[in-house]
Amino acid sequence: MSTFHDKVIYQAYPKSFNDTSGNGVGDLKGVTEKLPYLSDLGVDMLWLNPFYPSPQNDNGYDVANYTDIDPMFGTWEDFDRLVEEAQNHKIDLMLDMVLNHTSTDHEWFQKALAGDEYYQDFYILREAQEDGNLPTNWESKFGGKAWSKFGDTDKYYLHLYDVTQADLNWRNPKVREELYKVVNFWLEKGVKGFRFDVINVIGKDEEMKDADDGVGKSHYTDTPIVHDYIQELNKETFGKYEDIITVGEMSSTTVENGVKYSNPDRDELSMIFSFHHLKVDYKDGEKWSLMPFDFIKLKSILNEWQEGMAEGDGWNALFWYNHDQPRANSRFGDVENYPFETSTMLAQTNHLLRGTPYVYQGEEIGMTNPNFDDLDDYVDIETHNAYKEMKEKGIEHEEAMEIIKEKSRDNSRTPMQWNEAEHAGFTTGEPWLKVADNFKEINTETGQTSQRIYNYYKKLIQLRKDMPIIQEGDYKALELNHSSIFAYRRDYKGQTLLVLNHFYEEESSITIPDELLGLDAKYLIGNREERTLEKEFKMGAYETVAFLLN
Ligand code: NOJ
Repeated sequence: MSTFHDKVIYQAYPKSFNDTSGNGVGDLKGVTEKLPYLSDLGVDMLWLNPFYPSPQNDNGYDVANYTDIDPMFGTWEDFDRLVEEAQNHKIDLMLDMVLNHTSTDHEWFQKALAGDEYYQDFYILREAQEDGNLPTNWESKFGGKAWSKFGDTDKYYLHLYDVTQADLNWRNPKVREELYKVVNFWLEKGVKGFRFDVINVIGKDEEMKDADDGVGKSHYTDTPIVHDYIQELNKETFGKYEDIITVGEMSSTTVENGVKYSNPDRDELSMIFSFHHLKVDYKDGEKWSLMPFDFIKLKSILNEWQEGMAEGDGWNALFWYNHDQPRANSRFGDVENYPFETSTMLAQTNHLLRGTPYVYQGEEIGMTNPNFDDLDDYVDIETHNAYKEMKEKGIEHEEAMEIIKEKSRDNSRTPMQWNEAEHAGFTTGEPWLKVADNFKEINTETGQTSQRIYNYYKKLIQLRKDMPIIQEGDYKALELNHSSIFAYRRDYKGQTLLVLNHFYEEESSITIPDELLGLDAKYLIGNREERTLEKEFKMGAYETVAFLLN
C-alpha cells in the first residue's frame, strides 16, 4: 500500500502566514512558531510557496536563485530550525519548485543577456518571423503576448507568464542537469516533498509555430516529451528516496495525462493538481467575468476525475483553495448567513473523496474573500494586467472592480487571521497586503465560528488517518444529476461510506437507494444535528453528512 494515502497536506503562503520580524512580510521563523498549531490540526506535511531570492514580481514564482533564501523570509539558520522543529512535530516539508521558468534577474538569464551563448541556450530564444511578426502568436497566461525582445539583439525570449519570468529550455540537457541539482540540493536539506509548478508546460514543441487559436496551449501543454522529462527528473532526484511525496501542478490537463503523471508504475509523480472544477464560474471560459457557478458541471468534472483517475490507478490532489484561487467558501456558498455550514460542507466534500486533501491557510477557520473596493489594495500582477485588459475592452471601472473582488488571486493571499490584535496578529508592522476587515470575527483565537470550523477540519483529518475506506475505498457518485446535492459513496472490503453534501440554502432531499437502506447505518460526521438515514433524506442549508454502512 502507498505510504501517503492517509496523509493531509497543509499549504502555508509564507508571505502572508506569520511575520516575526515586523517587516510586514511573513517569514520562516513565523512558520516555525506556528508548528504547534499545525500539529494540533493534525496535518502531516507542510507545503511552502517559494521563499527563494526573487524580485517578487509574481510573489516568488519569479525565482532569481533556486538554492538560497530571500533575506526577507529569513536565514539558513531559520530554515534549518524549521526543518528540525517540523520533524519534532512529525510534519514534513514540501517545497515549491518553479522549474518551468526563472526570473529575468536570475544569473543564467543575466549571463545570457550579456552575450554568453552557453546560457542563451538555457532559454527559448527565437527570431521574428519573416513578415516581422513575433516568433509565434502565442499568448502569455498573464495577458499580452508570450514573447519579448531579448536585450538589444534581434531575438525574442519566450515567457508563458510574466515578462520577467523567462521559460527555460528543457530540450537542453544542461538545463535539466542544473535543475536536478536544485532538487537534490533540497533533498539533502531534509525536504520530503515537492510541488512542481506548472510542470506540464515544460516541453514546448520543438518546431514552434503559430497556433490556430491564437493562444497556443496545445503547442506546449502535456506534450509527450513532458512525461520523459518527469521520468528523468524522478530518476535523477526524488526517485532515489523511498518516502518523498510529489505533486505536479497541471495547467489545463486531461484525465488521460493525469493518469500518466501519477500512476505509480510510471515513476513520474505521486499526484497532480488539476483545475477544471475551479472554472465552473467562468463565463465562456473567461476567468474575468461574473457568473453563478454551474453545479451540474462542477459535479460532472469532479466525478470524471474521480472515476478516470481511479480507473487508470492515478491519484488526485484534492483541493478547493490555494494561493491562486479566490476563497471557495465565498464562491460556492453563503459566508454571510451560513459560514460554518458552507466551510464544513465544502471541506467534507473534499476530504472524503479518493485522493490527498490539501488545506490552504485560513480555510480551516473560514477566512473569506476580503472584498477590497480599491484597486490599489490589490498587489497581484495578474489582477492589474486583467484590470488594464478589461478597461481596454470598454468595461467600466465599477464593473471591473466587481469582477476583481470575486476573481483576484489576492482574495486568498490576505494575511492569516490569528487574533483580534491589529493586523489580525499577523505583523506588528505594515502588512504587504491588507488584512480582511472581518478578522475580529474570523480568527484562530477568538472567532467562535472559526473554532468550530477548525475542530471540524481536525475531525476530518483524523478520520482519514483512522479509516482505510477513506484512504483506499472505491468511489461512485449517486444521482449525479441531482440539482443541489453531491452524493457519493466509497466502498471498501464490504463497507460503504455514504457522503451527502448539499450545496444550496433551500431545503432539498435525495432518495437513498434500497440496497443501502437495508444496511446498518452509523452516523459518522455531519455539520448539523445527528441524523438517521432514511429513504427520502432531507437536507438543510449547506448540510453535509456521512454514514458508515455495514
Ligand atoms: C502557478 C503558481 O501557483 C502561480 O502563483 C504562478 O503565478 C504561476 N504558476 C507561474 O509560476
